[in-house]
Amino acid sequence: MARHLITSALPYINGIKHLGNLVGSQLPADLYARYLRARGHEVLFLCATDEHGTPAELAAAKAGMPVAEYCAELHEAQARIADGFRVSFDHFGRSSSPRNHRLTQHFAGRLAELGLISEVTEKQMYSNADGRFLPDRYIEGTCPNCGFEGARGDQCDNCTKQLDPTDLINPYSTISGSTDLEERETKHLFLRQSQMREKLQDWIDSKSDWPVLTTSIANKWLNDGDGLQDRGITRDLDWGIPVKKGTEDWPGMEGKVFYVWFDAPIEYIACAQEWVDAGKGDNWERWWRTDRGAGDVTYTQFMGKDNVPFHTLSFPATILGSEEPWKAVDYIKSFNYLNYDGGQFSTSRGRGVFMDQALDILPPDYWRWWLLSHAPESSDSEFTWENFQQSVNKDLADVLGNFVSRVTKFCRSKFGEVVPAGGSHGATETALIDELTTRIGAYQDHMGAREVRKSAQELRAIWVAGNEYLQTAAPWSTFKEDPDTAAMQIRLALNLIRIYAVLSAPFIPDASQAMMAAMHSDDRTWPDDVPAALQTLAPGHGFSVPDVLFRKITDEERAEWEGRFAGRRD
Ligand code: 2FM
Ligand code: ZN
Repeated sequence: MARHLITSALPYINGIKHLGNLVGSQLPADLYARYLRARGHEVLFLCATDEHGTPAELAAAKAGMPVAEYCAELHEAQARIADGFRVSFDHFGRSSSPRNHRLTQHFAGRLAELGLISEVTEKQMYSNADGRFLPDRYIEGTCPNCGFEGARGDQCDNCTKQLDPTDLINPYSTISGSTDLEERETKHLFLRQSQMREKLQDWIDSKSDWPVLTTSIANKWLNDGDGLQDRGITRDLDWGIPVKKGTEDWPGMEGKVFYVWFDAPIEYIACAQEWVDAGKGDNWERWWRTDRGAGDVTYTQFMGKDNVPFHTLSFPATILGSEEPWKAVDYIKSFNYLNYDGGQFSTSRGRGVFMDQALDILPPDYWRWWLLSHAPESSDSEFTWENFQQSVNKDLADVLGNFVSRVTKFCRSKFGEVVPAGGSHGATETALIDELTTRIGAYQDHMGAREVRKSAQELRAIWVAGNEYLQTAAPWSTFKEDPDTAAMQIRLALNLIRIYAVLSAPFIPDASQAMMAAMHSDDRTWPDDVPAALQTLAPGHGFSVPDVLFRKITDEERAEWEGRFAGRRD
């Protein structure tokens, strides 16, 4: 048994996320967490809302609410919806927690002590119309790197380049739209990432097994000498973590807060403390301090590609720079973007399907299956209603659902609602066992390697193998001549339903639960040994015919949803 720490990128607090956000971090992280738990490993799976910075302030202002109240409300909403998708966090924390305040201030103090923070008087964009500085998302303009017109002051969404507000071409205030901006002097703290360049390069170079998407982004920013410019880690904002050196005031920094990207990843650690405070665990240090038992933990982070620079450079600069024995990440799994029906998902334009809307129209497993089996791993992928309908109707309804329904109904009609006895395996069964053994091995390898799409393909092939067996064995025909052999075939198929429930649980947990309930079993033993697993439900063991596991999506529904989600969401 191994110990695995898993974190999913922290969703910004500013509203309900869309399906592209879900498949870029929370869902694959959940898949991995569920798989490892099912294999008997000890897992701590953490996430939290990212509550500071301009996204929070802007959204609260738009909602006409005090920002603290807005964050509390949206935290609850996001927690509820993640639960609706069956995302099995051990704790869903908040980056605004007192724990994160203390830890962020601690890191800043420590880095200052080690000479890794400098105080810089710099020019920042000031809006005369708004009477304030315009950090990060309070300012937009054209990206100097790729020419994208909607680049924000902190990062270009198009090319992922980290930016400073003063880099933007044709900048304007996102509060008032005003272009009456000027550069004014203000004092800020900078993290001296440039001092850490070699250390970070060595660290990245040691990660030869990381996905190319992750290392290529990291190396790009390391090697063009650009990504490792010293970064401002404070802001002229009201909402955030007050700038302090540990527990002490920081002269000259009164009224300023830490930059959201400085405190958000620190919440990965603070979240484990919150998990203990909530009474769900008793020792966070054995997950996060290598001097207190975290040395044997494997830590995997999941995130979209736009988050990679912060997780490969900025956060490691904080962790490694502190020279304290914090657990550093072992594997960064990053994702490309999911597009929506010929364009991009857009939070600002309300384009695409948002997590709450998705759950209003179909149960979570339908979404989980499609999203994970089409995860944007090696390139961007695209959601279309046609593809969604096809995949649900074929994979879930025709292949898996139909297998369960045919087997249980046939057995009930011929042998009653108990596993029948019958004869012994023949050549067809041996061939099936061989195929399943090979495929389950491949499935484990892909899941262990966090290869989401390949895992889904293999799982589907495992379902298909059962259907093909049923077609070949044809117990409904066999029954007429040889009821004993038909009983053996159906006993095997009933046991296969339990095996499917166990193997499929990380992808479709509700259907898995329904299959286990139908098989009157809570034996979730992993089918390492296929012949043994096929004997788990012994002759005489009762079962029930479940309700339809997956219903088909009709053409009318598809057309209706296509229209409904094309426009804006208000
Ligand atoms: O891009 C985002 O949605 C950020 N809120 C991710 C933060 S991840 C972490 F470091 F906190
Ligand atoms: Zn750009």
